Amino acid sequence: MTTELIDGFLAAIPLPAVLVDQTERFIAVNSGAAALLGQGVKGRHFATILRQPSVATAIEGCLRDREARTARHLSNDGAQDTTFTVTLRYVPGIGAVGGGAVLACFDDITEREQASQMRRDFVGNVSHELRTPLTALIGFIETLRGPARDDAKARDRFLTIMEGEASRMNRLVGDLLSLNRVESEERVRPKEKVDLSGHLASTLKTLAPVAEARGATMTLEAPDDPVFVTGDPDQLQQVFTNLVENAVKYGGDQVRVVLSFTGRDLAVRAPAARVQVIDNGPGIDPVHLPRLTERFYRADSHRSREMGGTGLGLAIVKHIVNRHRGRLRVESELGQGSVFTVILPE
Ligand SMILES: Nc1ncnc2c1ncn2[C@@H]1O[C@H](COP(=O)(O)OP(=O)(O)OP(=O)(O)O)[C@@H](O)[C@H]1O
Ligand SMILES: [Mg+2]
Repeated sequence: MTTELIDGFLAAIPLPAVLVDQTERFIAVNSGAAALLGQGVKGRHFATILRQPSVATAIEGCLRDREARTARHLSNDGAQDTTFTVTLRYVPGIGAVGGGAVLACFDDITEREQASQMRRDFVGNVSHELRTPLTALIGFIETLRGPARDDAKARDRFLTIMEGEASRMNRLVGDLLSLNRVESEERVRPKEKVDLSGHLASTLKTLAPVAEARGATMTLEAPDDPVFVTGDPDQLQQVFTNLVENAVKYGGDQVRVVLSFTGRDLAVRAPAARVQVIDNGPGIDPVHLPRLTERFYRADSHRSREMGGTGLGLAIVKHIVNRHRGRLRVESELGQGSVFTVILPE
C-alpha cells in the first residue's frame, strides 16, 4: 500500500489515529492524533511520544503477538484533564518490509466518565439529603413508642419536629421533580407574554411573611410602564421566588428588587428585561461563585440546612433561565452583599 493510501485511510478515521510499524516508529499520524500528540510526530519512535506505560506496553505487545488490545491514555486539553481509550489492532502487510503495523485509535471518553461520575454524585447526594430527615423520623417514632409513650407534652413536641422533617423531605422531592421537569423542557421555548412588574409585585407579596419574620424590608423598583417578556409565568415566578427568598434568608435586612428594560443586551443579543435582586448581607465568598448553581451546592451548608434549604433552588433557576435563553449573573463580595441578575430576552 502506498503512503498516500495509508494517509488517506487514516485521515478517514473519525478519531485520532496513528500507525506504528515494526521499526517502532510512527509511519502515519492523522490530524486528530497530531492535535493530541503534537506536530512532527511522524517518523519518531513511539516510546518518545507515548510515555505512559499502559499504552507503550500495549503497542509493544501488539507488535509482537498481533493480538488486539486496549489501553487508557491520559492527557490534558489545556482546560481539563482528558481520558482516552486506545484501541490497538494489527494491520498485516504494511510498514517496513511489509512486516505489518499497529493501528492505534484514541477515543475521548472524558465526557462519558464525567456524566457517570455526575450520576453517581447525584444519587449519593439525594440519598444523603433524604437520609438525614428519615433518620430523625425513625428516631422519633421509636421514642414515641417507647419512653415518650404516655407523655402527652413530649408527644406534641416530637410530632411538630416530625412534621418539619417530613415537610423537608416533601420539599426535596418537589424540588427534584421540578428540576426534572425544567430540564426535560429546556429545549422548548416558552410562548406566553409575561408582565414582569406584576409578577415581581406578587412575588414580594407572597414572601412578605418570610421577610417580616426575619425583620427584612423588601422594595421593588420598576418602570411605570409594564415590562413584558416571552416566558413561562409559573417558572419565572419560581425564579424570582427563589432569588428573593435567598436574599431574605441568607442576605441582609434590606432586599431591593430592581426591574429595568435594556434596549439591546449584549449577552442575549436582543432587547431584554433585567431583574436584579440586591441584598446587603454577608455576601458570598468568591470561591463558591462558580459552583453556586450546581445541585445541592451550598455556600454555607450549615446555615442553609438550618433554614430548610435543599440546595436545589439555584440549579432550578439556572435551568429555567437557560430555557428562556436568558442569563443569570451573580456578583458578590464578602461583607458587601450580593447581586443576582437575571436577563430575559423580550
Ligand atoms: N443572597 C445570598 N447571600 C448569601 N448566600 C446566598 C445567597 N443566595 C444564595 N446563597 C447561598 O447559595 C446556596 C444555594 O442557594 P439555593 O437557592 O440553590 O439553595 P437553598 O436556598 O439552600 O435551598 P432551596 O432554594 O432549595 O430552598 C445557599 O445555600 C446559600 O449558601
Ligand atoms: Mg434557595
